[in-house]
Amino acid sequence: MTAASTPPMIRMAGVDKFFGPLHVLRNVQLEVPKGQVVVVLGPSGSGKSTLCRTINRLEPIDSGVIEVDGQPLPAEGKELARLRADVGMVFQSFNLFAHKTIIENVMLAPVKVRKTPASEARKTAMELLERVGIANQAEKFPAQLSGGQQQRAAIARALAMKPKVMLFDEPTSALDPEMVQEVLDVMTGLAKDGMTMLVVTHEMGFARKAADRVIFMSDGEVVEDSTPEEFFSAPKSNRAKDFLGKILTH
Ligand SMILES: Nc1ncnc2c1ncn2[C@@H]1O[C@H](COP(=O)(O)OP(=O)(O)OP(=O)(O)O)[C@@H](O)[C@H]1O
Ligand SMILES: [Mg+2]
Repeated sequence: MTAASTPPMIRMAGVDKFFGPLHVLRNVQLEVPKGQVVVVLGPSGSGKSTLCRTINRLEPIDSGVIEVDGQPLPAEGKELARLRADVGMVFQSFNLFAHKTIIENVMLAPVKVRKTPASEARKTAMELLERVGIANQAEKFPAQLSGGQQQRAAIARALAMKPKVMLFDEPTSALDPEMVQEVLDVMTGLAKDGMTMLVVTHEMGFARKAADRVIFMSDGEVVEDSTPEEFFSAPKSNRAKDFLGKILTH
């Protein structure tokens, strides 16, 4: 395939989403090429989490199209399970299974969903735990790990399904400050390795350094879509100026 015919890894066109009368995504247009890192910024309630959740179909949309790697999002059934495997998601709360060890958490989906033999799943899980720097925690239970270690385990678990896209929704917001960097470092490594990523975060250092692109949302709309340099040095809209004024004087 030529570059021109390669579909974007994520494509959203004319996407609208309502919660009852509340119009939470307004005509969202977004194309994310393979390997790009997009940071999503915006005030509370602007629709950032909803945007992420529509991309792996945790939330249905009311109109428009969403495609992942050229495939429209399936409505339900087996196809939906496949899509969920293509799109990894990491949330603010780590959501690890408390009664399973770290390595069992990472092995679970490949064994259950992909039917990967346990020995192979274990080998891959150990490699992923190495990659996120917690191989020595493999046999522990989640409660025995720090928040930063648990979040890195959650990233390893998402990677175990070999996703094409990783979505991060405020992955460091629940962490003690001293643990934020270790998680951001893992994410930066993933970005360098070419993963396509959409990251909702308040970590402006990460946005400046790791993002190829920043989108700013306000009231369900993508108001700005630019490079980090442009966004931070010369935001175009008053809403973005206002937002930056608030967070940068914190
Ligand atoms: N399940 C739901 N039912 C009804 N309204 C919802 C639901 N989830 C979100 N909303 C509303 O949709 C809007 C967008 O919410 P969303 O969680 O996407 O915002 P956000 O930008 O992620 O905010 P935050 O920065 O606080 O996480 C908000 O007004 C919110 O109250
Ligand atoms: Mg949110």
